[in-house]
Amino acid sequence: MCDSIRSGWLTSGPKVRAFEQAFANYVGANFPVAVNSCAAAMHLALEAHGIGPKDAVVTSDYTFTASAEVIRYLGATPVFVDINPVMLTLSPAALARALAENPRIRAVIPVHTAGHPCDMAGLREAIAGRDVVLIEDAAHSLPSELSGQRIGAASDGCCFSFYVTKTLCTEEGGMLTTDSVEIAARARTMRLHGIDADVFAWEDSERPLRYYEVVAPDFKYNMTDLAAAIGLHQLRRQDEFCELRSRTAARYDSLLANCPVTPPHGKHWLQARVAPVHLAAPAGAPNLRSR
Ligand SMILES: Cc1ncc(COP(=O)(O)O)c(C=O)c1O
Repeated sequence: MCDSIRSGWLTSGPKVRAFEQAFANYVGANFPVAVNSCAAAMHLALEAHGIGPKDAVVTSDYTFTASAEVIRYLGATPVFVDINPVMLTLSPAALARALAENPRIRAVIPVHTAGHPCDMAGLREAIAGRDVVLIEDAAHSLPSELSGQRIGAASDGCCFSFYVTKTLCTEEGGMLTTDSVEIAARARTMRLHGIDADVFAWEDSERPLRYYEVVAPDFKYNMTDLAAAIGLHQLRRQDEFCELRSRTAARYDSLLANCPVTPPHGKHWLQARVAPVHLAAPAGAPNLRSR
């Protein structure tokens, strides 16, 4: 951070570019796009995939508000689909039923709840043969793994949060990773006022400094160099942080031996420790399921 302050480059610049590259190497992703929140990453991913008012988008019925609100930003309709009660992640069977009932569904936002990887193979099978994309809400999931691969390594769009409660913190921040060069390019344009030039390229561009076109009505979602400087240091310490969380989780497990949390697949990096507790509704409480 001191280095950034001394350099005078405070907003999006070389540190953001370095953080994007380091993050992509860490998770094994092709194209990283750093932004200022996970919500921004999800919004940009949906926008880049062309989601609009005629579309419906599925998300998990057990999540934070951001996974649903980003669908509304684009005028699309959120469709809430049930979770698997053990994993607390989107149920592929319930998704298949929703797809059969609603031909407007064009995207699905599965949430890797508290670091538990979703059953991505099952979800991919459910959408197979349809014009539907999977935009992963990986706010809790750095560095969770599935089939030996980190979450974010292979995705239509995978969205991480670097908010203070997350496993990597830049104060506020987020990252979109994608396999698609076109989706990354659109998200890069849309994260900063629809400017067609890569702002980071201004440093070494042949084009006159600050020459650009604004090609679309857009957003202000860029990450700053100060945030990226924190991110670079936090990223280097991920393995140490994982080790600390594993030790704390092992202690919880020994003290709460009657309610263990053992994910049936994938490596879970314990962003939070969640166990389902079934409570009876208080007398007179509204029945939300009937609404
Ligand atoms: C599941 C989930 N998705 C998205 C978000 C939004 O993250 P951000 O605050 O970086 O937009 C959160 C934040 O806590 C979250 O828990």
